[in-house]
Amino acid sequence: MKKAILSAKGLCKSFAHNGVQTHVITNVDVEFYEGDFTIVMGASGSGKSTMLYSLSGMDRPTGGEVFYKGENIASMSEKKLAELRHQDFGFIFQQMHLISNLTLFENVAVPGYLNKEKSTADVKKRAEMLLKRMGLGEVMTHLPSQVSGGQQQRCAIARSIINEPGLLFADEPTGALNRKNTTEVLDLLTDLNREGQSIIMVTHDMRAALRASRVVYIEDGKVVGDLKLSEYLPEEESKREKQVSSWLNSMGW
Ligand SMILES: Nc1ncnc2c1ncn2[C@@H]1O[C@H](COP(=O)(O)OP(=O)(O)O)[C@@H](O)[C@H]1O
Ligand SMILES: [Mg+2]
Repeated sequence: MKKAILSAKGLCKSFAHNGVQTHVITNVDVEFYEGDFTIVMGASGSGKSTMLYSLSGMDRPTGGEVFYKGENIASMSEKKLAELRHQDFGFIFQQMHLISNLTLFENVAVPGYLNKEKSTADVKKRAEMLLKRMGLGEVMTHLPSQVSGGQQQRCAIARSIINEPGLLFADEPTGALNRKNTTEVLDLLTDLNREGQSIIMVTHDMRAALRASRVVYIEDGKVVGDLKLSEYLPEEESKREKQVSSWLNSMGW
């Protein structure tokens, strides 16, 4: 049986504006498992990003509990939560948020330098290894503005795993990429997952869903569908496409 790495119980997130409450996430119970590549899908505005932020400690839920490796992060102190986000979680977004006046190498290494458990030399070695692995060996000393969007996103992926996170969160990481760069990013994430990286990724992209071991479907801030998939094999992609797309259709996608 798979081991839960992150679980939410009665998760709620509301926003208050001018005295009016908007309930975006309403009483969600959900578990995510170690080693899974979980994709979260749902219509635009269904609450995917809001849920991801509440689950990952980027934002505080307004109700419920979120357990990471048994600890309730919903009620953790700011200091402990910041440490957890830094040491145990990795993040990738649609916008890469690279620091514009640092080289790709520095962008990857800097979060590693803040990790007290690692020596500077070890961080540098890992940053270089990751950049090479992402196909960025030749452009490590370039600034973000000197490389393509796809290269920037691969750099952001390298940065997100510099501290060997227990869990990687991604919000539409291919949303701003063309087809070729999307495939490259999905290949990288699939490889990382095969090596054991647990991933929770929000996406609009069916092609991303094909890589998943599980697809969770969100509607109006609730989990309404949960599809478990076998291991992704490129040679079986068209068969998988049929399975996933007919399931998505049944969800009203
Ligand atoms: N900070 C906020 N204040 C008010 N409403 C918000 C805020 N963030 C998100 N929402 C609302 O929550 C709903 C879900 O948003 P979001 O989680 O971004 O959806 P998705 O990622 O699925 O497109 C939307 O109706 C959005 O307007
Ligand atoms: Mg979103």
